[in-house]
Amino acid sequence: MHVNGLTVRRFASPLGAARALARDIATCVTAHPDLVLGLPTGRTPMPLYRRLALLYRRGDVDFARATTFNLDEFVGVAPDDPHSYRAFMEREFFGRVNFDPRRIHFLDGTARDVEGECRAYERAIARAGGIDLVLLGLGRNGHIGFNEPADGLIATTHRVRLTPATRRSNAALFADRHHVPREALSMGMATILRAKRIVMLATGAAKADAVRKLVSGRITPRLPASFLQLHSCAEVWVDEAAAAGLTGRAR
Ligand code: GLP
Repeated sequence: MHVNGLTVRRFASPLGAARALARDIATCVTAHPDLVLGLPTGRTPMPLYRRLALLYRRGDVDFARATTFNLDEFVGVAPDDPHSYRAFMEREFFGRVNFDPRRIHFLDGTARDVEGECRAYERAIARAGGIDLVLLGLGRNGHIGFNEPADGLIATTHRVRLTPATRRSNAALFADRHHVPREALSMGMATILRAKRIVMLATGAAKADAVRKLVSGRITPRLPASFLQLHSCAEVWVDEAAAAGLTGRAR
């Protein structure tokens, strides 16, 4: 189904969506082995990463020449700290497949010169030829990466102050929710929108409200994901629970 320029793909279950998306990504990487991927963290992509790892073990996909740029990282958390997004990706995905470590890119939350780190990330993305396919999760408040609802959005990779709600939803990564960092680094809105293809994966009832607003609502910095409506090749992949606020049926 197409709404407001977005392609919405509905699936009966989160696993159904993860399997179909894994197949899609494997096909893209097989057709273009040097594909440049933008990758999210969070609970939502975990079944997708598991499925991609399975396809890799079966010999159905080879990531050796692909490049990755993760969307975001906490400020003050070192890459080898188990609470970092970098460590999450290692556990959930990178450690299970065959990316060349030199082609894995991450923002360093402990960089002394944060602005310099953000600028260097933008340059690295440009040097790689831009992002071909960016996968996105969705915050309950409509954030993507760590582009939080605000009066205005920042175009390029930047430092961001996290909302209390976002800190709460990231608490599972930390022993104590008070330990969730107050700041993060995130690709900016234009960094994301410059990707050739965008696939947002949103599953579960907790995302239904944000999905409805991003698909059917107005474009507003109060719901950063609504900016996907401006992209010429943006898809929203949802399970039935996340699609509850939309009209139509699962395929
Ligand atoms: C975090 C990440 C986002 C992610 C979001 C949703 O805040 N920075 O990139 O999309 O959480 O997470 P989950 O998939 O766990 O709901």
